[in-house]
Amino acid sequence: MKNIIKTNKLLVLVFIAYIALAIFMPSKATQSLKNSFYYVKEMLMIMPVILILTSLITAWIPRKTIEKNFGKGSGLKGTLFSFLLGSFSAGPIYAAFPVCKALLGKGASISNIVVVLSTWAVIKVPMLLNEAKFLGTEFMVIRWILTTISILLIGFITSKFVKDKDIPKDGDLSMVGDGQRLSVNQDYCIGCGICAKTSDKHFEMANKKAIVISQEILPCEEKLIEEIAEKCPANAIKLK
Ligand code: F3S
Repeated sequence: MKNIIKTNKLLVLVFIAYIALAIFMPSKATQSLKNSFYYVKEMLMIMPVILILTSLITAWIPRKTIEKNFGKGSGLKGTLFSFLLGSFSAGPIYAAFPVCKALLGKGASISNIVVVLSTWAVIKVPMLLNEAKFLGTEFMVIRWILTTISILLIGFITSKFVKDKDIPKDGDLSMVGDGQRLSVNQDYCIGCGICAKTSDKHFEMANKKAIVISQEILPCEEKLIEEIAEKCPANAIKLK
C-alpha cells in the first residue's frame, strides 16, 4: 500500500484535493469532475492509437534506423524528420510523450525530441489552418516562422543542458526478437558498472544504477549478455 501511494503521489494529491473540494465547495467539485471525465474520455480515445504507435517503434523499428534518422548524427535530416513528425501529428500534446520516450529509447537525440514535442504542441498543420482562418494568413505565417526559429534554438540549448542519462528510462520497455526481455532490477543493482563498461550498447549508468538502453540483442551478443549477467555481483540482470 505504501509503495502504491509512493508511486502515485500526484494521483493521491488530486484525490485529496477532490475530497477537500467536495467538502468545502461542492459545486466546484462537480464542475471539476465533469472536466476530468471529459479529459479521461479524450485520453481513452487517443491513447490506444498512441500505444500501438509506441509499441511499433519499440518492437519493430531497429535502433539503427532511429539513430540514423533522429539521432545525434542525423544533422539537418533528423531535424527535418522531427519537424515533419510533429507537424503532421494528431492529438493532444500528452500523446506525444510516450512516442518521444520510445524514440529516445531507440537513440533519438534530445534536440530532435524537443523539435517533435514543440512542433506537435504549437505548429501542427491542422492547427495552422484554423489559426489562418481565425487570425489571418499573415499572422499565421509570421508566427510560424518565428516559432520555428525558437523551436530550433530551444532544441539546441536543451541538448547542451540535458543529457541522455538525465532522462529516466524503463529498464525493460521493449521485447527482443524471440520474446526475451533484458532487464535490470533497480532494487538489487549496487551500481558497480560492470555491465555498462562491458556493453555500452545495452547498459548505461543513470543515478548510480544501471539501466537497459537497448533490447536489441544480436545472436553474436547473446553470450556476452549472459556473461555480464553472471558477472553482476548483485545478480540484478535478467534475460528471460
Ligand atoms: Fe548494477 Fe550489476 Fe550492472 S550491480 S551496475 S547491474 S553489473
